[in-house]
Amino acid sequence: MKQRIITLLLLVTAITSFSQSKTIDQKVEALLKQMTIEEKIGQLNQYSGDSNATGPITINPNKQTEIKSGLLGSMLNVLGVTYTRQYQEFAMQSRLKIPLLFGLDVIHGYKTTFPIPLAEAASWDLNAIESSARISATETAANGIHWTFAPMVDICRDPRWGRVMEGAGEDTYLGSKIAYARVKGLQGERLGDINSVMACVKHFAAYGAAIGGREYNSVDISDRALWETYLPPFKAALDAGAATFMNSFNDINGIPSTGNKYLQRDILKGKWNFKGFVVSDWGSMGEMVTHGYAKDKKEAAFSAITAGSDMDMESNSYRDHLAQLVKENKVPINLVDDAVKRVLRKKFELGLFDDPFKFCNPEKEQKELNNPEHAKIAREVAEKSIVLLKNNNAVLPLSKEIKTIAFIGPMVKLKRANHGFWAIDLKEVDSTYIVSQWEGLHNKVSQNTKLLYAKGCGIIDESKAGFQEAIDVANQADMVILSIGERFDMSGEAKSRSNIHLPGVQEDLVKAIQATGKPIVVLINAGRPLVFNWTADNVPAILYTWWLGSEAGNAIADVLFGDYNPSAKLPMSFPRDEGQIPIYYNHFNTGRPAQNQSNTNYVSAYIDLDNGPKFPFGYGLSYTTFQYSDLRLSKKKMKNTETIEVTLKVTNSGEVKGEEVVQLYLRDKASSLIRPIIELKDFQKIKLNSKETKSIQFTIDNQKLSFYNQKLEYKSELGEFDLMIGSSSADIRLKDNFELVK
Ligand code: NOJ
Repeated sequence: MKQRIITLLLLVTAITSFSQSKTIDQKVEALLKQMTIEEKIGQLNQYSGDSNATGPITINPNKQTEIKSGLLGSMLNVLGVTYTRQYQEFAMQSRLKIPLLFGLDVIHGYKTTFPIPLAEAASWDLNAIESSARISATETAANGIHWTFAPMVDICRDPRWGRVMEGAGEDTYLGSKIAYARVKGLQGERLGDINSVMACVKHFAAYGAAIGGREYNSVDISDRALWETYLPPFKAALDAGAATFMNSFNDINGIPSTGNKYLQRDILKGKWNFKGFVVSDWGSMGEMVTHGYAKDKKEAAFSAITAGSDMDMESNSYRDHLAQLVKENKVPINLVDDAVKRVLRKKFELGLFDDPFKFCNPEKEQKELNNPEHAKIAREVAEKSIVLLKNNNAVLPLSKEIKTIAFIGPMVKLKRANHGFWAIDLKEVDSTYIVSQWEGLHNKVSQNTKLLYAKGCGIIDESKAGFQEAIDVANQADMVILSIGERFDMSGEAKSRSNIHLPGVQEDLVKAIQATGKPIVVLINAGRPLVFNWTADNVPAILYTWWLGSEAGNAIADVLFGDYNPSAKLPMSFPRDEGQIPIYYNHFNTGRPAQNQSNTNYVSAYIDLDNGPKFPFGYGLSYTTFQYSDLRLSKKKMKNTETIEVTLKVTNSGEVKGEEVVQLYLRDKASSLIRPIIELKDFQKIKLNSKETKSIQFTIDNQKLSFYNQKLEYKSELGEFDLMIGSSSADIRLKDNFELVK
């Protein structure tokens, strides 16, 4: 008997260890075999939770029953371990007990909010960006969520587009580096770690090229622009291991992205060999009917599955039509199986089959929501994101001993607004963890400093009734800090603007305060590049403070008083006027380039506006100065199998320590397809003490010289290249050239 029991035990152990040692693919296959067609399609179906909806939700009283019947694979907008556990328990009552995936738009932080992504991009600090994503992931995972719909990697050359705040700006090279860093930060060492969430790279593809910057609008671009400008950040995110992709609302060259086979099957799952799954954007499958691409939702479901969209967010096209399409032999079952396997694989990788409640630990939730380390990093990242646009007569940094400071403007005392768009609506967050600009200043100044306040005006309303009070307050002070900009919800999804000037009467307020003759520092809070020419031309000191997140107030105060020396550089060109849009630094030369700003005689220029941007890509000042010298190239001719080592020296020639972003640009002088007049190909952010000199090294390889030719092959061509090292795209300090030879 004893012997029998031992044999049985050995057998059980052997079976268990066999099942544990089965690969994920084997487990997925085994599970798939047990699934009915309805259960399979359920895995491809995603609903929003009933609160916190981020789109036009469909009311469905049967959600719970559907989950218990195994007809739902994923939910978005369910927050916190209590609720995710509740829904997961419903899933555990289903026949096959396949766990649900919970997704959420954690775009720049969960409870701790970091600067909006465009602001963070201004830091050009990949480590900082990765660590902010890491903390976002930690808080998100601790709240029961497995998956964030980030990073948004859409390159955008149009600041009218509201969603420009979610990306990394206009440049493909910088955008690709940031995409990589964000995915690494979100996913950590590996999926399945308790502090990691799945990234979802979006919006595939080219959503940032929406015509006229109008939200949800069509995109019409060449294949060359697609490959050259818009796709590389997606590829970089994939190289970082991104688990999922989201397609997009826009049609591209006549085909909605959701039904676009070229994008999803040929490029993403074909050429790039992506093994994760693609989720649609909210309702975008059904919207193919509105686009005029599918005659009804059944045809939309057909197009989407054929094109490679795996999961249907909130359109119910798969739920209502996919089984029928399979029964009618219109959709081969292997297409459905492939999509289901992709979803199941991620659930296995996350470890949800081993423990569906793995991310539902209330103690961990509380611990991570109150982790003081997160605030520290949020403050550092926010400091690094503030761009010093102007500092005439070294108005900044301010002394902590100033007797009276007037802090004026509609943004000064706002709290929630500092989160910017896409903040998670946690009820308790509104009143607690956000440091307003007023509080930040208060925390900073000495007891001898008196702070005065006046609102001056609203953000968008036209009343000047508050001006006099603001002028009186300014007159009582030694200096004025003016905090203005656009409302936090004037950028973000469905927040495109045709007019990106400072809204309301805010620029008139600046004029009125400037007339008092007091020294002024202006803070501009916004989710996009704004137009503010009068302020830019007349006010001595300007900080672009975007929306900086939970620690906004402290970070702004740190920069105002020199506890942090600003180091950010613009990730987008700032136009002089909307009429210049799209404006971007890496444009072509044309056959008749304007030689200078005032030359309009039969050259490519506007007769009523200077050609260049108001503030160029890569621009940002510091409280110190940097000298560039000793540029050397290891050789002047290279073959495409070789490299050139570029070295130079940078010296901090000022009195305080600081950081500089050393930018390397190239120009291919003549090629079979025209190349931009200047193109970012590398950069390094370095720290230098006062009077310190550092040697910098860059490597030029064939990759940096290559581009997509007419056949869309990524190749270099022989010939001459200009090499430019700059402190911005318009401030080139050192130049040389070299040749690519046979
Ligand atoms: C629509 C947005 O375009 C997308 O970015 C977001 O992830 C989904 N809604 C879900 O909220």
